[in-house]
Amino acid sequence: MTVYLNGQFLPLEEARIPVLDRGFIFGDGVYEVIPVYSKRAFRLHEHLVRLQHSLDGVRIDNPHSVGEWAALINTLISHHQHEDQYVYLHITRGVAKRDHAFPQPAVAPTVFMMSNPLTHPAAELLQSGVSAITAVDNRWLRCDIKSISLLPNVLLRQQAVDAGCAEVILVRVENNDSDSFITEGSASNIFLVRDGILLAPPKDNLMLPGITYDVILELAAAAGIPCSVRRILKQELYSADEILLTSSTREVMPITMLDGKPVGNGRPGPLFRQLHDRYQHFKREVMRKP
Ligand code: PDD
Repeated sequence: MTVYLNGQFLPLEEARIPVLDRGFIFGDGVYEVIPVYSKRAFRLHEHLVRLQHSLDGVRIDNPHSVGEWAALINTLISHHQHEDQYVYLHITRGVAKRDHAFPQPAVAPTVFMMSNPLTHPAAELLQSGVSAITAVDNRWLRCDIKSISLLPNVLLRQQAVDAGCAEVILVRVENNDSDSFITEGSASNIFLVRDGILLAPPKDNLMLPGITYDVILELAAAAGIPCSVRRILKQELYSADEILLTSSTREVMPITMLDGKPVGNGRPGPLFRQLHDRYQHFKREVMRKP
């Protein structure tokens, strides 16, 4: 497998970074995951805008222009035979003597990219839906930054796996439990359907502004589905007709069991089906355009 590291395309086995890389020592860096359909990066511009937001948030200078990123990503894609892939892009503050403060003078950031085959959610899972649990969102207050420091997300996702579930829906706990609200999943955004209205949490510092999230809201608006972007209370989860998760790698999936109880009638609902079909159509349409 060919990967990209600091200016070079090389086999994965030959890619090396020094142990003093601040990504390794501190988790000091940011990342992106970009889906690739028919060998073309999907919503590339939007992913690069979010990357810039993450870099600004952690005060790392962007090592490349948008044009340079596009060229590097396209070259990486061309090294792989799969039509559908996902590019993982990772930037750290670079290599320096261990000290929490930024290196002075600044060092060159480390840039790593790899691409893997994109496996689409299994048809059975789209038919049956997946299970999820809820858990307290114990992350920091800058979840809008796509940070490589993912320990809380890793632990939360494992909690879901240990419970035999595909995802965990994160809840910010307020003093009064009835005010507690949901933010997102450990690696996905979450939508609810209640009374025919698609509900989405607002893009703020408590969640990652998902690229798929935006696509889903655009597709819903184009289909005339009423949408409301607002804080979603935890208690609303248990009376939802449908719950959906979205991400670049899982696209849109139905959550049909939550905390061991069925969501709605326990089957994927009509809005899921509509949005899933529209997403499939849309991504192929976009890729056909010159
Ligand atoms: N994660 N929220 C979190 C915490 C995420 O990690 C992700 C994606 C999303 C969805 O964002 P998008 O639609 O842009 O993929 C929301 C990627 C896929 C990952 O970490 O592998």
